Amino acid sequence: VTRSVILGTGSYLPAKRLTNDELAEMVDTSDEWIVQRTGIQARHIAARGEMTSDMAVAAAWRALEAAGVAPETIDLIVLATSTPDNTFPATAVTVQAKLGITTGFAFDLQAVCSGFVYALTTADAYLRGGLAKRALVIGAETFSRIVDWSDRTTCVLFGDGAGAVVLEAREGTGDASDRGILSCHLRSDGRHKDKLYVDGGPSSTQTVGHLKMEGREVYKHAVSMITDVIEDAFSATGITAQTLDWFVPHQANRRIIEASAKKLGIDADKVVMTVGEHGNTSAASIPLALDSAVRDGRIKADDTVMLEAMGGGFTWGSVLLRW
Ligand code: ACO
Repeated sequence: VTRSVILGTGSYLPAKRLTNDELAEMVDTSDEWIVQRTGIQARHIAARGEMTSDMAVAAAWRALEAAGVAPETIDLIVLATSTPDNTFPATAVTVQAKLGITTGFAFDLQAVCSGFVYALTTADAYLRGGLAKRALVIGAETFSRIVDWSDRTTCVLFGDGAGAVVLEAREGTGDASDRGILSCHLRSDGRHKDKLYVDGGPSSTQTVGHLKMEGREVYKHAVSMITDVIEDAFSATGITAQTLDWFVPHQANRRIIEASAKKLGIDADKVVMTVGEHGNTSAASIPLALDSAVRDGRIKADDTVMLEAMGGGFTWGSVLLRW
């Protein structure tokens, strides 16, 4: 069988680091409130003129370098973002051009915070289906451009950034000892649209709009949705919470991550947590967290890694892989 193997990871954070104390000068909030409710201490904010494609390209170069492959060998780019440079064309084709790639194909994928899990699952299906051989899968966001900076209930939560992986089709035996993606599970339920959305868009208001969220409602659903798709991955592969090596969840909120790990029986020291320094970077949060755990040597060859996300829509999903 064909397996999609990650050859390398890369990430990028904009230089500007915005602390909770700086936010407290902009809206009525405090470091204590934000840390206690979310675990977030700081987030990074894109510079004026710095776009989603710029950050995606920076992360992609680092992933290509880590993988030791040249950009022209990439025949598929899937970019997960809810904050594209333009309404169209896809930001992925801008990334393709900036990397100097003129062959293959590139497109954007929109599943908000679940974007990276959806993009990885999509690229895996293309590789296993033989439509491409080597893919760049990127999550990149400039949520600072859609956040209402006067709304303390949302502006303290989000940050900007990008992460990328190089994915290659390889032959495997078909069992859970293979390297690469072992199991993908995606879900959505559009009845929850109004709990987390942007109140603008080309077809509705002809504006970009601002992020709106009923935080408590999102929180209420998050843990059960997350644990459901993870249990699906465990039963599909025979891997368990005890044998799993690393849990790399979407980084929205420390309390949601800790409650999910606890409910599943995953030890706290297997959880990769970057929300404190990154905030919620939506589709970029998983590849940013993954890259940090790969580069600091935590994730090693043969380790099993569970990626998981839940976000607007609602959308949710998991990808279980062996490094
Ligand atoms: N600073 C100080 N006070 C605040 C702030 C703030 N930044 N924001 C809200 N408050 C106040 C509220 O006004 C409210 O005051 P009131 O009681 O006088 O009305 C009080 O704090 C409590 O507000 P709640 O919204 O009930 O606070 P809660 O404990 O639920 O925490 C939070 C809010 C952190 C947003 C939480 O609900 C949460 O984490 N929800 C999940 C959100 C999430 O993870 N979304 C992303 C997932 S999907 C994606 O990633 C796109």
